[in-house]
Amino acid sequence: MRHLLLLLILLSCVSMGAAVAGCRSDRDKDHRPRENCTAAGFSDIPVGLEPTTKVLLFPSNLFSSLSWSSFQVFPEIYEIDLTGNKVPEVTPTASPILPTLSVLRLGSNHLTSLPDGSFSACPGLTELYLENNAINSLSDHTFSGLTKLEILELSSNHIKVLPQSMLHPLPAIETLYLEKNKISVMPDEWFSRKEEVPYLYLSANPWACTCSLGYLRRYLDDYELNVYVRDGPEIKSEVESVVCDAPRQHKERREKVCKGKM
Ligand SMILES: *[C@@H]1O[C@H](CO)[C@@H](O)[C@H](O)[C@H]1NC(C)=O
Repeated sequence: MRHLLLLLILLSCVSMGAAVAGCRSDRDKDHRPRENCTAAGFSDIPVGLEPTTKVLLFPSNLFSSLSWSSFQVFPEIYEIDLTGNKVPEVTPTASPILPTLSVLRLGSNHLTSLPDGSFSACPGLTELYLENNAINSLSDHTFSGLTKLEILELSSNHIKVLPQSMLHPLPAIETLYLEKNKISVMPDEWFSRKEEVPYLYLSANPWACTCSLGYLRRYLDDYELNVYVRDGPEIKSEVESVVCDAPRQHKERREKVCKGKM
């Protein structure tokens, strides 16, 4: 009896020994094994985490780079949260490194631009969060290969130009967050590959009321119920959130001229 007790104590010590200081093991709402290492001062993945982990949370840590291959020790990785770190760039890879990764959170980092094929390491992404960085340039190929991507979060960046074909590699896109950028023009036929994006956030951009806005205006007429604004978790449909910025004094006249063309 005493031996059994000793054995039990020993066993529980061994399983406690596997825990990593600064991280808490639990499960997400879908029962995936999760490690929550929030604000624990890590600049790299600590050793000792279970390889069966599917959800890795590192918000508010000190990662200053994103090494795709360092996550390969978790062959079933589903979600990586690096919100609030110091990642300055993401690197394209020649082949998929993390094919099981579905959710990637890189909000509030130091990203400034995203090269072609930025996310070729993880072609299975369904949700990609890049809000609150300093992203100022995107290309037609930034999101190449993300055929399953449903949610793309790009709000609160410095985006000025929407590349003409940026949405073409994203046939599954359902929610697109673009608020709080510096976008003035939506390219003609921007949504042509997939006309309907059910949740579209376009507010707080300096939309210019020139004839080049013709496509956006026609698009909004057709899909006005898909345009939303949010306040924390609250969302509401509000097509009026897309307002003109410059040039104010010519606004009325230009609208008339352009409407005549439609
Ligand atoms: C992770 O842990 C932090 C506290 O350390 C907590 O505030 C946060 O809600 C946890 N995250 C999840 C998704 O459970």
